[in-house]
Amino acid sequence: MNTSKMIMLILTLGLLGYASAYAEQSIHLQAKEVYHQFPFFDTKTPVWSYNGQIPGPLIRGKVGTTMVIDFSNRLKEPSSIHWHGLRIENAMDGVPGVTQDPVEPGENFRYRLKLEDAGTFWYHPHFNSSEQLERGLKGVFIVEESERQPWSQDWVWLMDDWLLQKDGTIYPHFNTGRDLMHDGRWGNVPTINGKFRPEYTAKPGERIRLRLINGANARIFSPHIKGLSATVIAVDGRPVTKFFTLDKFVLSPGNRIDLDVRIPEQVGGKTFTVEDRFTRRAFQLASIKVIPSEAVKPPDITPPTATDFIPAQVFKNIKVEKTWDLNAIRGGKFGIGWTMNQRLWPDADKVVYQLGTPQKIIFKNSSSRLHPMHIHGVFFRVLERNGIEAIEQFTRDTVLVGPRESVTIGFVPEHSGIWLTHCHIQEHAEAGMMTTIKVKK
Ligand code: C2O
Ligand code: CU
Repeated sequence: MNTSKMIMLILTLGLLGYASAYAEQSIHLQAKEVYHQFPFFDTKTPVWSYNGQIPGPLIRGKVGTTMVIDFSNRLKEPSSIHWHGLRIENAMDGVPGVTQDPVEPGENFRYRLKLEDAGTFWYHPHFNSSEQLERGLKGVFIVEESERQPWSQDWVWLMDDWLLQKDGTIYPHFNTGRDLMHDGRWGNVPTINGKFRPEYTAKPGERIRLRLINGANARIFSPHIKGLSATVIAVDGRPVTKFFTLDKFVLSPGNRIDLDVRIPEQVGGKTFTVEDRFTRRAFQLASIKVIPSEAVKPPDITPPTATDFIPAQVFKNIKVEKTWDLNAIRGGKFGIGWTMNQRLWPDADKVVYQLGTPQKIIFKNSSSRLHPMHIHGVFFRVLERNGIEAIEQFTRDTVLVGPRESVTIGFVPEHSGIWLTHCHIQEHAEAGMMTTIKVKK
C-alpha cells in the first residue's frame, strides 16, 4: 500500500470513529446433555453443558465491541443465560420473568451484548438455577482490554465443586432440607475447569495473569498459592484502585479475582500447590509445575488501576433508604424459605431508584448462615461492615454477608431497567432470597 492510500485509509477509519467499536462477533451456545469423565469413576457422568463442554466455551470479546450469542436450548426444560457482572442492556440480562421469557426446550434466543467493561466475567442460566448450574451449565466470559499487556500466560480457572455419588453420577436431589438449612449445596469433588487437581506448567521468570472465578452453587473458596506471592489486580471484573497481596481473600459464589503471579527465576523444577483454605481442612485445588529450564525475562507489565471509579466519598452524605433483612422462614415451595424483609420471591420487597442518584443499601443478616449478595448490572462499593467503615480497594458485584453481619454498600445506578438482586447461594435464591432494583430514567 502506498503512503497516500495509507493516509486515506487512516482518514476513513477516523471518520468511522474508533474502528473496532463497530466490530461484531457472533457465537453459538447450545445447552444440552452430554457425558463427562471425572477421574476415579468407571463410567461417565451425565452433565448439562454448553456446546458439549464442561465448563462451557471460554468467550473472549474486546471492550467496545458487540458480542452476539445465539443460544439454543436443547434441554428438556426451559433455560436462559445471564451474563454475570457485565453491564449491558437490561433486556439482555437473561432473567426469565424479569427481562425475558424463559427459553423453552427447542427454542432459541439471541443475546446482543455491548461490551463496555474489560475484565473477567462469567455466564450461567437463571432458570431452575440450583439444578442447572449444578449439572454443569456455566462458562467464563473475558472482555479484553483495548491495550494488551504482555503476560507470559493468561490462565482462566473456573472453580467449582460437584456432589457426586459412588457411581459417579450427580446427586439427583436438589434444594434439599439439608441444603436449605445450611449454606446451600456443597460438593465433594472440587474442580478447576471441570478437572480434579489439574497441573499447570510455567517457566521460571514468567508473570502470569491468573483469573479465578467461583462458579460453585454454594461453596466459598479462599485460594492460597503455597510458596508464591500473588497480587490481586482486579476484583469482580474491575481493576482494583490499589494492588494488594492475595491473603485470605474470600471468593464466594459469583466472585472473581485476577491475580498477577510471578514465578521467581530460581525455582525451575519446583511444584507449587494451590489450596483452598476457607474451611478448617485445607485441600488442594491445582498445582503449578515450574519446568527446569532457563529463566525467561519477566515481562514488563503495568496492570491498569481504577483510581476514580465511584470513590467512597460520593456516599458520605447519603442516607440509607433500604435495609434488607436476610432470614429464613417456614414455608415456601420447599418448606424452608429464605427471605429479604420477610418476603419470598416473587412476592418481594422491591425498590425503585432514579438513574444517576447515589444509593446506600444495608444487607442485614439475621441468620447464622452465609449470604453472598449479588446485584445485577452494577459495580458497588462496600462502605461499612457492622457499622464500622470498611476500606476495600475495589468495587464488587457480589459481597459475602456473614452470620449476623450487616454490610452497607453504595452504588450509582447507571443503567435503567429491572436488575435482579439475590443471594448467590443458588439454593437460597431458589428458596426465595431474591428481589429487584428498578432503575428509572
Ligand atoms: Cu451470577 Cu443472578 O447471578
Ligand atoms: Cu444466602
